[in-house]
Amino acid sequence: MARIIGAIASSHTPTIGFALDAKKQADPAWKPIFDAYAPIQQWIADKQPDVLLMIYNDHITSFFFNHYSAFALGVDESYAVADEGGGPRGVPPVAGHAALSRHVAQSLVTDEFDLSTFRDKALDHGIFSPLSVLLPHGEDGWPVPIVPLQIGVLQFPIPTALRCWKLGQALRMAVESYPEDLKVALVATGGLSHQVHGERCGFNNTVWDEQFLDLLEKDPVALTRLTHADYARLGGMEGSEIIMWLVMRGALSASVRKVHGSYYLPSMTAIATAIYENQAEPLSAAEAAAHRARMGAQLAGAQELEGTYPYTLDRSAKGYRVNRFLHGLLDPATRERFRADEEAAFAEAGLTEEERDLIRRRDWRGMIHYGVIFFLLEKLGAISGVSNLDIYAGMRGQSLEEFMKTRNQQVTYSVAAQLED
Ligand code: FE2
Repeated sequence: MARIIGAIASSHTPTIGFALDAKKQADPAWKPIFDAYAPIQQWIADKQPDVLLMIYNDHITSFFFNHYSAFALGVDESYAVADEGGGPRGVPPVAGHAALSRHVAQSLVTDEFDLSTFRDKALDHGIFSPLSVLLPHGEDGWPVPIVPLQIGVLQFPIPTALRCWKLGQALRMAVESYPEDLKVALVATGGLSHQVHGERCGFNNTVWDEQFLDLLEKDPVALTRLTHADYARLGGMEGSEIIMWLVMRGALSASVRKVHGSYYLPSMTAIATAIYENQAEPLSAAEAAAHRARMGAQLAGAQELEGTYPYTLDRSAKGYRVNRFLHGLLDPATRERFRADEEAAFAEAGLTEEERDLIRRRDWRGMIHYGVIFFLLEKLGAISGVSNLDIYAGMRGQSLEEFMKTRNQQVTYSVAAQLED
């Protein structure tokens, strides 16, 4: 089974990535940053984690206010490097451990953390700034896949410190109930004290930073009693993102072994790093099996219903490319290109031959089996001048006339504004 071997804490200031990219290793102003990460690189080399589960926040790069969520878990197979205004940094995309992500999502929702999930989102300096100094990387990518957990800390209401702590406790159960033998290291990024907006920008508080680091190690529950205003007063408004470290700490044993710590305040944000080794006994096989049974309880039996395909993260992952293509047709210009030349649109979207064939033949049942969600079928129907009733009949393997006989009224309709004759 999977085990949490320990946790790394790291600020995620853009300066860290900048120092690396600008090759500032020998510059006295930047050298303390590299010195701080050398023991962590060594720890990773010694412990050989199989996955890094990274708790971070996005900085209004890939997550905008048109849909802002408290907890968003990446479930993708790969994550690109975000462009934060000056083009993406020259580091490779990082692989995701999608199977672990799906398990964690299911487990957290089972434990009543109704988080959102994401794919197709580039990760910004909240991930890649620390990652680039934690792991070697090059043309072959990165040696360890990640699972990113985004915490929405920039638009209130945001989760409380206590909620972050409790999420960590649920995260421990989620990871340790994963059936495969995996060594998982948590990485919490963000902080420490800083404020970057308004007349108070430039605020730092080294005394508080030291207290916070001490409490995080020895008495983290005390940190769960503080309000967002407390964190802002003590460590600056943006510094309050440090509550993300409580997710990590909540997933560890009550007492941890701190084997590394550093603190450096070069400019706007205090850069701190730490390594905490987990002292917890792993979950027993019986406890893990009981938890997995609980995770499966809500859908137990649904898979056996005839002609019924619950839309799980597994199905979503399989059907994602086709679903994304069909969803893209909601854009009128893309829709027109599709209507003018379907084959060119398929090629542009990089669909497989199997996927092209399903759409080309408007194989409604086949698309459902493949992992397309019904609500995109009805949009493809609307685009194609096909009524919902035709789609229902097609899925059931009946003619429209046969299916109509099963309805009380002989009406046809579509999600299209108008149904062409
Ligand atoms: Fe941040």
